[in-house]
Amino acid sequence: MSMLLIFILCAFIRAHEATPKQCFSNLFPFGVASAAFQTEGAWNVSGKGESIWDRYTHEHPELVFDHNNADVATDSYHKYEDDVKIAKQLGVTFYRFSISWPRILPTGLRNKINEDGLKYYHNVIDALLRENIVPVVTMYHWDLPQSLQDLGGWTNPTIAEYYVDYARVLFENYGHKVNTWLTFNEPLSFCHDGYGGYDAPGSRSSGFEDYLCGHNVLRAHGMTFRMFQREFSHLKASVGITLDLSWLEPATTSADDQEAAETARQFRFGWFSHPILSKEGDYPRVMRESIDRNSKRQGFFRSRLPSFTPEEVDMIKNSYHFLGLNHYTTYLVSKGSGKISTKPSFDDDMGVKISQNPSWPKTNSTWLRVVPWGFRKTLNWVKNSFNNPLLIITENGVPFEAGLQDVKRVNYIEAYLRSLHDAIYKDGCNVFGYTYWSLMDNYEWMRGYSERFGLFEVDYKSSNLTRSARLSAAFYSTVARTKCIPD
Ligand code: NOJ
Repeated sequence: MSMLLIFILCAFIRAHEATPKQCFSNLFPFGVASAAFQTEGAWNVSGKGESIWDRYTHEHPELVFDHNNADVATDSYHKYEDDVKIAKQLGVTFYRFSISWPRILPTGLRNKINEDGLKYYHNVIDALLRENIVPVVTMYHWDLPQSLQDLGGWTNPTIAEYYVDYARVLFENYGHKVNTWLTFNEPLSFCHDGYGGYDAPGSRSSGFEDYLCGHNVLRAHGMTFRMFQREFSHLKASVGITLDLSWLEPATTSADDQEAAETARQFRFGWFSHPILSKEGDYPRVMRESIDRNSKRQGFFRSRLPSFTPEEVDMIKNSYHFLGLNHYTTYLVSKGSGKISTKPSFDDDMGVKISQNPSWPKTNSTWLRVVPWGFRKTLNWVKNSFNNPLLIITENGVPFEAGLQDVKRVNYIEAYLRSLHDAIYKDGCNVFGYTYWSLMDNYEWMRGYSERFGLFEVDYKSSNLTRSARLSAAFYSTVARTKCIPD
């Protein structure tokens, strides 16, 4: 059943059903997520091309926390049937996974389609459908074909056309089986950290390349959405994009900190959501003004933030059927010093100080503390800023140490679900699904295998990478099946 249809049914039921204990409506879909690079392995098997993450982790193992690469990862290329089996065991409605562009088009270009790659995802989708699990497909979860990076990657405007070619191959081949699509996963992460920081491809040109990346991603997204409407509307599928927003709470009640927090939200979320969801169809004003001002102060004479043509504004505005939201944690924001360095940077442009409260419970990751109330605030802010858009939570999750008795993960999920429940049923936020990240432990980018987010533990030492259910798998399974948060 299409996610959109599920939503409509959920909305109907919600309006007609009281929810005394914390239960979601009967058809509220719970799912789990993963991504190709983090799980598939088989990096050069059966015609797959090299991705920027293959190249980067091979050339710079020293930059990865545990010096590992994802050549094998959880070997899901060979073990996808096991993955489907454990998803089935959970009783989830859907499985969100991503397709690797270089596995389908090894050089990134449409002139050479890798039949084995196409077949692999047919197998995954068919296995899910056989088990009545709805496939939710992310078209791009960061693993750009290296050959396109050699042409400038996301900083080269032509990439938008190449992306549309790739998306068309996916709609043509899987459109009759998949009806929920996400064009991109977290452009903030891969543009800010990849083209302005230490993720692949590691170009680190913050304040220039990250903005170019964002601009071309938005163009590629809009072009793909319009192409879908023109060529594939008969498929009755839904197309969205996943953006990420950690809650950004003012550090104090001062007007300066309130303003700083709102500026940070506009830079980190508005950058991508404003062109798509706002009536202006452009970057947030505060972002544009700050970058223009800093660019002039730095002597560039022109803004470092590119501009959309009026045609692009029309194309990008409203280019979504639903929005995917990833949410993990909360930060405190206070006013910055106002100083900018001669070297341009996103952080100077945003001009705020970001921290976390040391009393918030820690996890196994450097950036993620447990702050459930931030989830509700995030959802309400999105609701109020963008006229209550149709949302699916495409990721929410937490890493803790290895071990099957993961009480801390159970507590995290429970607390975040309560916050979500309040947002939906007390505040009226339009959320029509929830996805836990991740089905099983996997390769956590620059943190290697050191951060485990899985409901299932992967034993990296065992020759067949055994997956074992944690306590949280049983807990989440109860939620997914009963639609209620256990008391
Ligand atoms: C967001 C990303 O989409 C995913 O790939 C990553 O593993 C999780 N956050 C956890 O950091």
